[in-house]
Amino acid sequence: PETIVVQELANRMAERAADVVKSLMKMGMMVSMNQAIDADTAELVIEEFGHKAVRVSDSDVEQVIDTVVDSEENLLPRAPVVTIMGHVDHGKTSLLDRIRKANIATGEAGGITQHIGAYQVKTPSGQLVTFLDTPGHAAFTSMRARGANVTDIVVLVVAADDAVMPQTVEAIHHAKAAGVPIIVAINKMDKHSANPTKVRTDLLQHEIVVEAMSGDVQDVEVSAHTGMGIDKLLEAISLQAEILELKANPNRDGMGAVVEAKLDVGRGPVATVLVQNGTLRKGDIFVVGQKWGKVRALLNDKGETITEAGPSTPVEVLGLNGTPSAGDVLNVVPTEAQAREIADYREQTTKDKRAAAGAATTLEQLMAKA
Ligand code: GTP
Ligand code: MG
Repeated sequence: PETIVVQELANRMAERAADVVKSLMKMGMMVSMNQAIDADTAELVIEEFGHKAVRVSDSDVEQVIDTVVDSEENLLPRAPVVTIMGHVDHGKTSLLDRIRKANIATGEAGGITQHIGAYQVKTPSGQLVTFLDTPGHAAFTSMRARGANVTDIVVLVVAADDAVMPQTVEAIHHAKAAGVPIIVAINKMDKHSANPTKVRTDLLQHEIVVEAMSGDVQDVEVSAHTGMGIDKLLEAISLQAEILELKANPNRDGMGAVVEAKLDVGRGPVATVLVQNGTLRKGDIFVVGQKWGKVRALLNDKGETITEAGPSTPVEVLGLNGTPSAGDVLNVVPTEAQAREIADYREQTTKDKRAAAGAATTLEQLMAKA
């Protein structure tokens, strides 16, 4: 049910919270100013104070967000989004470096990935693929979950000299929970201790039956160090993407998911957004979770300034009024006033919910003591 904290209600009516508490007391309700009351009670209080209550529901405030369903004729093919997952040190970043002909892994602090990297690559066959690199360290569960939730395909990297490990299993669970197909990349095949058969049999215990074991999950033996099997892995991705028939409508307002966000000393709040539908352009006004902004600049994965980003493109977005949370959804809206209204409304709703939850705990604690 809808609730509002007494203090907040008082603020909105420009009345003293103590007076609101008194008025509630008269109605037979013993609540403190930090507790929440339901919407019906709030309405009575508002009338008591001679104000008029206007209920604002989600649908009223948020209806400006374009929820148009794309008709088939507006849909065009888009690049697959592929998330690389697996246990720590199994070679995810090295594999992606090999694919991108880049060198990120060796520059990482302690050789450990601590954030989600987003890149776009053109494969030798000319296909565009968006890759997300996730950390394998046990501490980064939420990043792996997020990576699995915005992706079309998961490439599960398993080191052939180490086989299936805890975060391998975790990644399988994330992929299954998100309903995303898996391609297994058996890495470090250049090592003498490589035992790909152990990897395949280990996977059986987690209901991953690879093609080499007559199942339907593609498996490819690779080495990030020698480059062996990389072309086969890219082929496997193309094949899987073809089956998925991925499409989006680039000719509508942009929407996407925040993969990561941070407060940059020089540039202010920066969000890495994966555009999922439509096209995001410089100058667009948007809401993203409880924040809003106007796109001041868009930067691609190479740090170059671009003017627009279509479906499946990862971009850094500058021009936010604050730092959004990873996982927030970005929507383009028509005006700044609407953007501000939606962001404020969401912030307030969250605060109210938190306060209500807090009040409930206090009450429980009181009851427990009594
Ligand atoms: P996290 O992101 O921290 O989970 O690690 P990661 O999975 O990205 O592993 P990373 O690419 O950082 O590689 C870990 C170590 O394995 C590094 O020392 C790499 O040089 C090594 N490595 C990666 N791929 C291969 C490979 O194909 N063969 C061999 N021999 N070593 C590899
Ligand atoms: Mg890494």
